[in-house]
Amino acid sequence: MNSSLLSRFVTVFFAIALCEFSGLAQKSGPHNKTFSDSLKIEGLLKKMTIDEKVGQMSLFLSEESIITGPSQTKDSRDLIRAGKVGGIFNVHTVDNVRELQRIAVEESRLKIPLLFGLDVIHGYRTIFPIPLGQASSWDLEGIEKAERIAATEATADGIDWTFAPMVDLARDPRWGRVSEGAGEDTWLGCRIAAARVRGFQGRDLKDPRSLLACAKHFAAYGAALAGRDYNTVDMSTLSLYEWYLPTYDACVHAGVGSIMTSFNEINGTPSTSNKWLLTDILRKSWGFKGFVVTDFNAINELVPHGVAEDLKDAARLALNAGVDMDMQGSAYITSLPEILNQKKITIKQIDDAVRRILLVKIKMGLFDDPYRQCTHEREKKEIFTHDNLAFARKMVSESCVLLKNEKNILPITQTVKSIAVIGPLADSKQDMLGNWDATGRSEDCITLLAGVRGHVADNIVVEYKKGCNVSDNDTSGFRAAVKLASESDFVILALGEEGELSGEASSRTNIDLPGIQNEFARAILKIGKPTVVVLFNGRPLAISNLSSHAPAILETWFGGTQAGNGIADVLFGDYNPSGKLTMTFPRNVGQIPIFYNTKNTGRPFNQADSNEKYVSRYLDSPNTPLYPFGFGLSYTSFAYSNLIIGVLGKTIKVEVTITNSGNREGEEIAQLYVHQKVGSITRPLKELKGFQKVFLKKGEAKTLSFSLSKDDLAFFHPDLKKSFEPGEYLFFVGGNSVDTMQKAISLK
Ligand code: GLC
Repeated sequence: MNSSLLSRFVTVFFAIALCEFSGLAQKSGPHNKTFSDSLKIEGLLKKMTIDEKVGQMSLFLSEESIITGPSQTKDSRDLIRAGKVGGIFNVHTVDNVRELQRIAVEESRLKIPLLFGLDVIHGYRTIFPIPLGQASSWDLEGIEKAERIAATEATADGIDWTFAPMVDLARDPRWGRVSEGAGEDTWLGCRIAAARVRGFQGRDLKDPRSLLACAKHFAAYGAALAGRDYNTVDMSTLSLYEWYLPTYDACVHAGVGSIMTSFNEINGTPSTSNKWLLTDILRKSWGFKGFVVTDFNAINELVPHGVAEDLKDAARLALNAGVDMDMQGSAYITSLPEILNQKKITIKQIDDAVRRILLVKIKMGLFDDPYRQCTHEREKKEIFTHDNLAFARKMVSESCVLLKNEKNILPITQTVKSIAVIGPLADSKQDMLGNWDATGRSEDCITLLAGVRGHVADNIVVEYKKGCNVSDNDTSGFRAAVKLASESDFVILALGEEGELSGEASSRTNIDLPGIQNEFARAILKIGKPTVVVLFNGRPLAISNLSSHAPAILETWFGGTQAGNGIADVLFGDYNPSGKLTMTFPRNVGQIPIFYNTKNTGRPFNQADSNEKYVSRYLDSPNTPLYPFGFGLSYTSFAYSNLIIGVLGKTIKVEVTITNSGNREGEEIAQLYVHQKVGSITRPLKELKGFQKVFLKKGEAKTLSFSLSKDDLAFFHPDLKKSFEPGEYLFFVGGNSVDTMQKAISLK
């Protein structure tokens, strides 16, 4: 071996040894860096120019991309050929992806494969209910399977990275992005987040049907002041630790390979330049070994945030904070080489970022097969299959929440001979997709009208009138709709939001039904026919007016491709609704933020003694919500009895008997809540600590058993350390967060 080759080998060998020694090589998780990984990474690093290194840290749209932010697309081929691109996003189809990847691995100097990212948020081509809808199923296995199907479809089409799961805790339904998450509870949110990461990434990132997941938006994006998107986040560090950070940590524990920074600041420092967040917490405290990508242009936005003088300053701050990849902003590619020369950053910072990105690409098998078996054959065989659609239909039904059902109007019986399907959302294909519909096609969607028509026997007449629009004040359609309702045995009234009224950049100050829908609903309801309102929406709605008039309300969110079929299965009783709200429905926007796990305060308002003045209450509204967290009705009923609490060694055992006291089989989501009566700091009145989804035949009873450890009851203290406190605890069990049985126990 000649001397120069020997010296290079020795250098690379010591670089690897240093990495191994410095603990970069971890022993567990999908990112454990093996010796051969290190060899490959250090070997590449040695050859890479600065431009090529910074190129790996750059993510771009290409001219074929779907636009999801404030930017234009341009042809990326020359940049790819020059080795200046680490990933492309929002480009799909086998041909487009293979062409760009071919340029990267055949025409660039070092032939490093690209990542191909896209927002696969609730399905890829087979679109599932929006995440807030799927969360209402409380079906962790079902949610995981839905993401697995999404991953299989997306990877067949060339995508290998999804910008999901969105795990931002949200207590403010004015914020349109609540549609993308799992709602207001940290404990449930952590379990749903982990299920979604498992679904996307599978058991092995190298599996060509696995998608690299990206937990977002780190952090606390859902706490934007006034529910206004991109707005300031300002909260105590204790609240951040107790409520908002755990869902991201749950993704790290589930092995998520990437994390996306959020647009917002937290207490004065934007996430994208927040070293405490991205390095101290994410890497040093939680041990995250994947890479950090920014949200769209987020480095550039450090300038309007007012923490960076210019783009170079912004790039410096982001790199110092721990950002590895720049989404679309070109901040890194235009600034890092220059500020490196000015010694404002170090080559080690750049190398470490590139190491993390290359390690994930190795773990994904991109160097073994850059195309990850995305072929037209897979595309034809694995996308939009019958089985995928059948499962999507099941998830639609499971995601529905029955909010009201006076006189058991539902399910619709076969005695009904004529059905009026009325309303602005009754036959809207596009709105069934909700927002972030990836490559979902509106023409694929089964509307409510189509689902009802497809479900009934030939002798049942189903007629349709739109009646009004979603968001304007046109009443010209009222008369025909009222006439049809008057002439029908049963009325299905489809109301709610258009798909684009929730999602990104879609905050609303008025979250009642938009437009003239309340007036329209009253015109239909006063006819007095058996009527069910079917709600289509991406957020909790303050529908006090509607709720006081409608005898039955079924919350269906935006159900995706199979919306109409899954809803019809519920309306006609093929599926007994079991969904439960994971986000509180307020009576009015003035109550917001309103959520179930509140504190008692020193002057609690006692509903029973409503004349008390000097208590925590409103003069013009009850404190209670319209529909509480965990709420959802069934076509049957469930009775809870024999609640027993005991301690067995270190385990707290909770047992309860649940009986199907109604007249048909069904599923119930039995919920377990806990309250620490006296703490070193104030404690929430209830905190979800367990649930079981149980199927019971008519009259059947089962004893459910829950086991908790003291760690399950631990909470963060002002010193940001988590620990359990002995004392008196209340345990609650029930079918929602309000109607529960309770028992006290003293825990040492
Ligand atoms: C958007 C969203 C983010 C998404 C990204 C890429 O601005 O904030 O959730 O993943 O851009 O489309």
